[in-house]
Amino acid sequence: MPGVLLGDVFPNFEAETTIGRIKFHDFLGDSWGILFSHPRDFTPVCTTELACAAGLTGEFKKRGVKMIALSIDSVEDHTNWSKDVMAFNGETGTPLPFPIIADDKRSLSVQLGMLDPDEIDKDGMPLTARCVFVIGPDKKLKLSILYPATTGRNFDELLRVIDSLQLTAQKKVATPVNWKPGDKVMVIPSLSEAEATALFPNGVTCKELPSGKKYLRFTQP
Ligand code: BEZ
Repeated sequence: MPGVLLGDVFPNFEAETTIGRIKFHDFLGDSWGILFSHPRDFTPVCTTELACAAGLTGEFKKRGVKMIALSIDSVEDHTNWSKDVMAFNGETGTPLPFPIIADDKRSLSVQLGMLDPDEIDKDGMPLTARCVFVIGPDKKLKLSILYPATTGRNFDELLRVIDSLQLTAQKKVATPVNWKPGDKVMVIPSLSEAEATALFPNGVTCKELPSGKKYLRFTQP
């Protein structure tokens, strides 16, 4: 089955984009990366998503994340569509601040497992789903999500998960439900009490539970 699994080295594909031909790992350099796919150019939900992503480029940059989009149309279509996207943001004349991959042969969409068999174009061909891949500086896949074409994504949530990925890559913690930066985090279960005390100078609080097991351990990172 095509696709990429968590922990896999992300394929170092070559592709035509709105900034020319790229080799993906060279494009990423030492940065984190986010690749998000769209069903088609000149479609309404995709336009709102790309416009939102464009408005958040400063936030992705702050986190050291390089952005790249993909859709199954040509570079020429992408370039023209980008003007609509920026106009939707009220920024006519400003270029889209990240490239779009032209996957008009669908080869990358097949390789990465992104096609949605329930969304068919006028020629009976499947469209791309709304996939998101977050890739770490080690080029390994850290997160993937997959939405159908009819459900637009929440780019604030993508920033939130990147904050969690980057924190948990540095510290032996995990982020609980609805966590946001600044909130307490959980000490991971594999750490002993002594290790947790040594690693977290802000202290560790443990919630008393009916089971008597001491696994709900919070700390301020
Ligand atoms: C959209 O982006 O609006 C869209 C694209 C394909 C199917 C449904 C919606």
